[in-house]
Amino acid sequence: MKRVLCFFVCVMALSTSSLWGAGGKEHTSSAPVVFPYEDPSLPLDERARDLVSRMSLEEKVYFVVGTGMGNVAFAPSIMGTDRIVPGAAGTTFPLLHFGIPAMVMADGPAGVRISPVREGEEEKTYYCTAFPIARMLASSWDTSLLEEVGTAMGEEALAYGVDMILAPGMNIHRHPLGGRNFEYYSEDPLITGKMAAAFVRGVQSQGIGACLKHYAANNQETNRMSIDTVVSEKALREIYLRGFEIAVKEGQPWAVMSAYNKVNGLYCSEHHWLLTEVLRNEWGFSGLVMTDWFAGKDPVAQMKAGNDLLMPGTPFQRASLLAAVKEGGLDEEVLDRNAERVARIVLGSASARGVERPEAPDLEAHSLLARKAATEGMVLLKNEGNTLPLDPGLRVAGFGVSFYDVIIGGTGSGDVNEAYRISPAEGLTAAGYQVDSDLKERYLHYIEEAKANLPPKKNWWEPEKRIAEWDLPEEMVDLLASRTDVALVTIGRISGEFADRSREEFYLSSEEKSLLRKVSSAFHAKGKKVVVLLNIGGVIKVDDWRDLVDAILLVWEPGQEAGHAIADVLSGRVNPSGRLTTTFPLDYEDVPSSSYFPGTPMDNPERVEYGEGVMVGYRYFVTDNVPVAYEFGYGLSYTTFDLALAGVEGEVTRDEELRLRVEVTNTGDVPGREVVQVYLERDLVGDEPAKVLVGFAKTEILEPGASERVEIRIPREYLAVFDEGADAWIIPAGDYRLTISKSSLMDVGSIPFSVGHRVHVADVIPLD
Ligand code: BGC
Repeated sequence: MKRVLCFFVCVMALSTSSLWGAGGKEHTSSAPVVFPYEDPSLPLDERARDLVSRMSLEEKVYFVVGTGMGNVAFAPSIMGTDRIVPGAAGTTFPLLHFGIPAMVMADGPAGVRISPVREGEEEKTYYCTAFPIARMLASSWDTSLLEEVGTAMGEEALAYGVDMILAPGMNIHRHPLGGRNFEYYSEDPLITGKMAAAFVRGVQSQGIGACLKHYAANNQETNRMSIDTVVSEKALREIYLRGFEIAVKEGQPWAVMSAYNKVNGLYCSEHHWLLTEVLRNEWGFSGLVMTDWFAGKDPVAQMKAGNDLLMPGTPFQRASLLAAVKEGGLDEEVLDRNAERVARIVLGSASARGVERPEAPDLEAHSLLARKAATEGMVLLKNEGNTLPLDPGLRVAGFGVSFYDVIIGGTGSGDVNEAYRISPAEGLTAAGYQVDSDLKERYLHYIEEAKANLPPKKNWWEPEKRIAEWDLPEEMVDLLASRTDVALVTIGRISGEFADRSREEFYLSSEEKSLLRKVSSAFHAKGKKVVVLLNIGGVIKVDDWRDLVDAILLVWEPGQEAGHAIADVLSGRVNPSGRLTTTFPLDYEDVPSSSYFPGTPMDNPERVEYGEGVMVGYRYFVTDNVPVAYEFGYGLSYTTFDLALAGVEGEVTRDEELRLRVEVTNTGDVPGREVVQVYLERDLVGDEPAKVLVGFAKTEILEPGASERVEIRIPREYLAVFDEGADAWIIPAGDYRLTISKSSLMDVGSIPFSVGHRVHVADVIPLD
């Protein structure tokens, strides 16, 4: 019977199959609905169950393993094999005779990563917008901005034939040398979770799926595919899982990507407790779990753990699963369960729904959004004597390779194939500044020559090599100090997937230091200012050179609109309102995880102890009173703000959430936005941090003298700590304060409260 029905559907499906490809339009709505899985009026769960019940064992096995990276030779002929969107990271297997198209997945956090050109389509391009890197977006502390950016990426994915974006990246900035920190939001899980949830809501508002990654405790690149993260349940829950929990509950993502590494001896993709007990049973996640690309070792263990889809998919995985079911090593019901979860998401995808894919996304509007996002994420670190803003029209000497060859994002899967990039030199020129053209020509020449002399990469996956900074002769710098009004010096750093940053990259090179010294003395001798632009994706040492300069603007890796956005902030067209979401330590060794990073044995680590427990980032620096260069939450403005408590509601022992209202007034001379931060402070007990961020809000643009009342809601669980003995979240009895703050070190008010008896917030499923 099944065969006869399949034949019918097969003919019907083949007749419409040409419509599923890139840019494919409407699914034939007139096609008669024969089976429940085809009926869009039924719930997806029911349709998925029906679809899987009609699949053969082989089809189910193919369905839970992706189409691979080019190697699809073993696909049964009833399945399609095309990689539909060139440059996308992977696809699920299409089931042609069921009329089910492939679901297309593309990276990544800073923009949709696909190939901008397609064979046979010489006239058309598929460029996607390169937005600022995730840590820069987070520095805005503006969840609505993240939602806007997510929406724009969703629109581009929809237009170009992609169904799911492999973002947001949500790992924690545990160590300053983490190679992919640029792709992640923060050292703090609340910021991470809130930013990710907003981004997910934006992407998914377009009917495109988002995928939280990399779950969990994937905080380094060194030996990422095998390293065993050894971490206490308390640190895991309070620091490394918390962000995912918030994003799952508040974003309802379609998918979660399990990480490469092991957690306490088990690969994340084979970790039942992580993938099923915590993610699904505790947090209520109902989407799809996929592996990171080629992650884990044992496909059967992955299936059993609740890892529904193996990506990108290999013949070995298919063969192992087939054999395991036939030989009794894998219960077919487990395969069915996972296939149903894949089916539910695939059936809901834009390709399967046959939705209208717009001809082209609004790239112009997205460019403007990328520019706005970059201005919102810049952090003004220093501004001695109001050096900034700088009047447009000034004569500018631009020093530093990245002033002309800007770094707009990191490398690896998070790298976007952008259509263009605006350098600071170009952006400033467009804004009316007179960028010294002779210096520019010399730099362009230097860059071209130095790049030509770079040794070739040994492996395709190695991060881009940067050329050394040009240490200009003193006489040339003196001459420039005479003929220009101000010096702008860029410091550039790039990093990416596959490698952590080297220790040397944390420090300025001898050429960079020498350049800064020369520029500083020449320009200061003439009473002119020196401004540094930090074009970086990871934190660097600043305290040994910052006294040489008058202002420092952290411009991160700001996406394709880099130069325009930099000019916006330098000119004062936009008042900087970014705040750090990760501490700038005085030295990377000050960070407690440095004693353990990147693991043991040091030269080729197999395991990494998270011996610092919950003392990550500001939690440690504030608790132990350790001086830092720039603290978490820090950032200057061209104006000043007054913060005043305007009301508190809620009682910890009684209510589910507390509500704080804070009145923010712009007390300066120019319009601007302020970030209100709320921390929970407690008297030191055991190994608890003294201060934890529990809420934040950002104002709209306030004119001078204007006020806005922001409301910050703090769910009771944000005040809780994890008690390993009790397997529960609790609020210990004691004295507390909620501080209203401008940074983790700058409190402007506090609300004391006492908790008379231990409050039990929630039980959990223990990790044994
Ligand atoms: C990365 C993921 C990415 C995947 C697909 C992996 O190497 O770790 O972040 O989504 O490749 O490109």
